[in-house]
Amino acid sequence: MLKVRIAVLVSGGGTNLQALIDAQQSGILKSGEIVLVLSSKEGVRALERAAAAGIDSAVVSRKSCASQAEFETRLQAELESSGIELVVLAGFMSILSAEFVSKWQKRIINVHPSLIPSFCGEGYYGLRVHEAALKKGVKVSGATVHFVNEIPDGGEIILQRAVPVYKKDSPESLQRRVMERAEWKLLPRAAELVAKKIRSEGDSYGKHDQ
Ligand code: GAR
Repeated sequence: MLKVRIAVLVSGGGTNLQALIDAQQSGILKSGEIVLVLSSKEGVRALERAAAAGIDSAVVSRKSCASQAEFETRLQAELESSGIELVVLAGFMSILSAEFVSKWQKRIINVHPSLIPSFCGEGYYGLRVHEAALKKGVKVSGATVHFVNEIPDGGEIILQRAVPVYKKDSPESLQRRVMERAEWKLLPRAAELVAKKIRSEGDSYGKHDQ
């Protein structure tokens, strides 16, 4: 059976990308294949992880683009030239416009390091999410994988997992626990669920109409 062609979009360390690569190697991710890693930043660790796994990568630097429209035109060109069918945002730190997202309905998933609808939306990314959770004093946090729509972190939830918050936590220790216990497990499982659905439903499944 043909595998769904997956692009993973990254901006930094790429530990979630690594979880996807490991899941591919262990057979947890089997309905899709990561054929492209696209980074919005030069020189990040995620690009080294892609190279080590023998996966093609490209950089579309947000900084070097004059506008969001130019950035997205270049992203779209990379995705189309690699025949991508599913986009996985794994620590991708740029918000995508409604126009871009509408071309990829139910074809973009994202991992977010909180239990949505808490601590999400514009301004909530990376360590900031955990700082906000600790400031609020929540006793439980976690991670969410969701479809991406025009509302930042507002698309349909696919998988969610709770993680305890401890009194002694720093943003870094909470981030690590959320990654280890939730993100790195949920993201590969969600990618497999969505890839399997795309493969089984073929062109009729939420296919973008480009
Ligand atoms: C992860 O915790 C991911 O959930 C978060 O950034 C980190 C990236 O780490 N993403 C967001 O906050 C997006 N709103 P990684 O590069 O090691 O996967």
